Amino acid sequence: MESLRTFIALELPEQLKKRLGKLRDELQGRVSGVRWVKPDNIHLTLKFLGPTGADKVERIAGILKQESRGLMAFSLQVAGLGAFPNTRNPKVVWAGLKVDEGLAILQQRLELALVPAGFAEEKRPFVPHLTLGRVRKPQARTELRAVFEQHGEIDLGTYTACRVTFYQSDLLPSGPVYTVLKAFELESC
Ligand code: 2AM
Repeated sequence: MESLRTFIALELPEQLKKRLGKLRDELQGRVSGVRWVKPDNIHLTLKFLGPTGADKVERIAGILKQESRGLMAFSLQVAGLGAFPNTRNPKVVWAGLKVDEGLAILQQRLELALVPAGFAEEKRPFVPHLTLGRVRKPQARTELRAVFEQHGEIDLGTYTACRVTFYQSDLLPSGPVYTVLKAFELESC
């Protein structure tokens, strides 16, 4: 059976991707040793499914349709830069998010609904974030420190996310390519 690599995410509006692209251009000029995410590829992950049998795609799409039915679009307040596991030891550089409470509820409902399809529940708390880059060389740390000091509180604006999307991810040598398998529109967009 063919296996895909998949995840579920909120798609970001074009305006936000443009804004993040500008920030990325600035950061790219200042910090070396980080692999920055292409603005078009930035998304808000709700659930990383990983290896997914092709025979499960329809079932997962059905679960997603059911859990997202009737939900209002989500407001995303994008502010601050931070890192996992923390800014002193950055491995993943992200833009921070303040989101409607309903997003955590949707995320939790997806976790539970996907268990019978064979996807283990994520035990770590859900921390909504937008990954901007992944640190590849330790020397990036010093340059990133200055960036966190300057932009730790940056205000990137408030946006509306209108689609919950089931993505296929192909890891190519040139970088990941994300393909929409199914997308579900939220209300009032
Ligand atoms: P992110 O949410 O921090 O960006 C597709 O690979 C997406 O799923 C990425 O955006 C990634 O991180 C997220 N993801 C979550 N857990 C992952 C894992 N174990 N391996 C790869 N990606 C993962």
